Amino acid sequence: MASRISVPWLLAGRLASSTGRSVTGASSTSPLSWTWRSAPRQHQRRLYSAGGSPSGNKDRVKFWPFLAVVAVGSAGYIGLVNRRKDMSRSIEAPPTDAGQLPAPAKSTPTFSPSDVTVVFVLGGPGAGKGTQCANLVKKYGFIHLSAGDLLRAEQERPGSQFGDLIRDYIKNGLIVPMEVTIQLLENAMTEALSKAGTSKGRFLIDGFPRKLDQAHKFEDSVCPAKMVLFFDCPEKVMEERLLERGKTSGRADDNAESIRKRFRTFIETSMPVVEYYEKQGKVVKIDATPSPDAVFAKTQGHLTERLGTDF
Ligand code: C5P
Ligand code: MG
Repeated sequence: MASRISVPWLLAGRLASSTGRSVTGASSTSPLSWTWRSAPRQHQRRLYSAGGSPSGNKDRVKFWPFLAVVAVGSAGYIGLVNRRKDMSRSIEAPPTDAGQLPAPAKSTPTFSPSDVTVVFVLGGPGAGKGTQCANLVKKYGFIHLSAGDLLRAEQERPGSQFGDLIRDYIKNGLIVPMEVTIQLLENAMTEALSKAGTSKGRFLIDGFPRKLDQAHKFEDSVCPAKMVLFFDCPEKVMEERLLERGKTSGRADDNAESIRKRFRTFIETSMPVVEYYEKQGKVVKIDATPSPDAVFAKTQGHLTERLGTDF
């Protein structure tokens, strides 16, 4: 038994690794075919004889529920994959290969780190990333790109095919598939540089990467990062800040239930990113509990220590 569906190359590898199923027909110009191979006969026999049932009609009766589960699971899965494929395709393509799916492999990032300084800004929800970024923009003239803001803008953009999907992910504190977020960031970087009429720029990328796959893909295909500012803050403090902000922010995720989910995602999915960059010596960790001014004073010190005054 084999069911064949076409998937974008980016998703194919992940499907293969998360399901243990095989991916075949890889090509840089045509969609991959994802093939579900049934288990070897021997394995099947062992599986179905595990209950010790005799062969014949009784076996058939036990076999159909299994088929039904596989069929329902496969249908749901195909639906999910197709939805993500549509989603990835409908992002407005920048003047690079990154907007096409299946995306041709890029051997070099779009922006050179000698032209473009990228500083990732990480920290739990409510740690004060946005506040500190605003200060850094004023002081150093960074271009501030918040991944969350870009996603919310895409969610509200008339005609966007991702609106509902982004809304769902944000409400549940989940990480939106990287294809969407990276594309939005690359578009915004390209646009900012072209507006400024230059190929050189300094970017604060706020709230990104929130997952390891985002980190790898962004650095491979968009631009390697110079450093990571990590605003460290206890959950209790972040929760108080978010609930306070929720009174006026109008954000669908500044409520107790979403906040709980966001904290969980942060610990399970985003902290490994911080650890990954820590191993590379790129992280500056700043206690984000004190007042915004006190945190900013520390931030400035660390930034100039790392990048000098003329970065
Ligand atoms: O950073 P911010 O709090 O604005 O992010 C809000 C939400 O946007 C996150 O909880 C997550 O659902 C989504 N997001 C994401 N990937 C990112 C940044 C934000 O999926 N890199
Ligand atoms: Mg923010």
